[in-house]
Amino acid sequence: MIVLGIETSCDETAASIIESKKKKILSNILYSQFKEHKDYGGVVPEIAFREHVKLIDKIILRALKKAKKKFKDIDVIAATGGPGLHGGLLIGTTIAKSISLSIDKPYIPINHLEGHILSPRIEYNLSFPYLALLVTGGHTMLVIAHKVGKYEILGMTLDDALGEAFDKTAKLLDIGFPGGPQIEKLAKKGSPSIELAQPLIRSNDCNFSFSGLKTSVLKIINSKKKKTDKFKSDVCCSFQYTVLNIIKKKCELGLQIFEKKYPNKKKNFVVVGGVASNNFIRKNLEKFTIINNSNLYVPEKSLCTDNAAMIAWVAVEKFKKNKKNNFDFQPLPNWHI
Ligand code: KG4
Ligand code: ZN
Repeated sequence: MIVLGIETSCDETAASIIESKKKKILSNILYSQFKEHKDYGGVVPEIAFREHVKLIDKIILRALKKAKKKFKDIDVIAATGGPGLHGGLLIGTTIAKSISLSIDKPYIPINHLEGHILSPRIEYNLSFPYLALLVTGGHTMLVIAHKVGKYEILGMTLDDALGEAFDKTAKLLDIGFPGGPQIEKLAKKGSPSIELAQPLIRSNDCNFSFSGLKTSVLKIINSKKKKTDKFKSDVCCSFQYTVLNIIKKKCELGLQIFEKKYPNKKKNFVVVGGVASNNFIRKNLEKFTIINNSNLYVPEKSLCTDNAAMIAWVAVEKFKKNKKNNFDFQPLPNWHI
């Protein structure tokens, strides 16, 4: 089966072709709009919408060309239906429906979060159940993936998402957008010498909170008259250490819950979403999983940040069961898993 995946939920315009049997990504094309949004320090929905309109057809054609496929070779068209920005979702959904109509092949809407959660199964021979830490710019949650379509949320953020906390901290330090990669870069030169708040670290549940951490970064910045490069690096480094501590604490609890539910299963643990591309977090979670006797699966970096291959992949997983066309579907900006 050849699947065309389309992703337009935020500021990436992306298309991918997957060959299902060999689990092969034939193409994974992406245009990241960060240049268009960087002056605003965040994603501007109207700008994102216009960029998707401008680019989506070209990106799809490039994905086909790279995969050496024609429209007639496609068996299924999958597009992100939510959650995300309404304008972008409309573009992806509409073009997917149009292609579906013209080549008479089924269209299926895909939940973006499900795309992230199932993404490690493209590269790895990873079986269910597993515990997933989903850390993106819009969401942060700990989820048990019992099987395709059955997800149990153990906890989530009560305010900011982790990627958002990276972006906001970078904005406070005036080091650029998107914040995650910039913080990771500067942190390498710094030391974890600054104590920052660790919201909910002692609460005995899997919920997260990052707005207090952001406020404590703001206080430190305001208290310093001269914001030297050394100071900024130290803030970045301390921020990453603090985040890691919080993640480890919550994942430890998550693994305990997982173990109680599945005492005889391997403790498979995945980290997905844009923040999972952070090397410091990846390396330290490797150590964490060794100590906790669990197995870590993190997708390659291009599959952590938004991409269309993960959207096409959900169609591969789901299409086996449900071959129905979904023309009635309308984008769902707050679609839950
Ligand atoms: O999954 P994603 O690409 O899009 C959403 O679904 O939101 O995640 C984007 C988020 C942004 O907040 C970005 O700053 C963060 O992922 N991110 C990172 C890194 N690369 C991207 N955070 C920390 N370190 C990184 N290297
Ligand atoms: Zn995402």
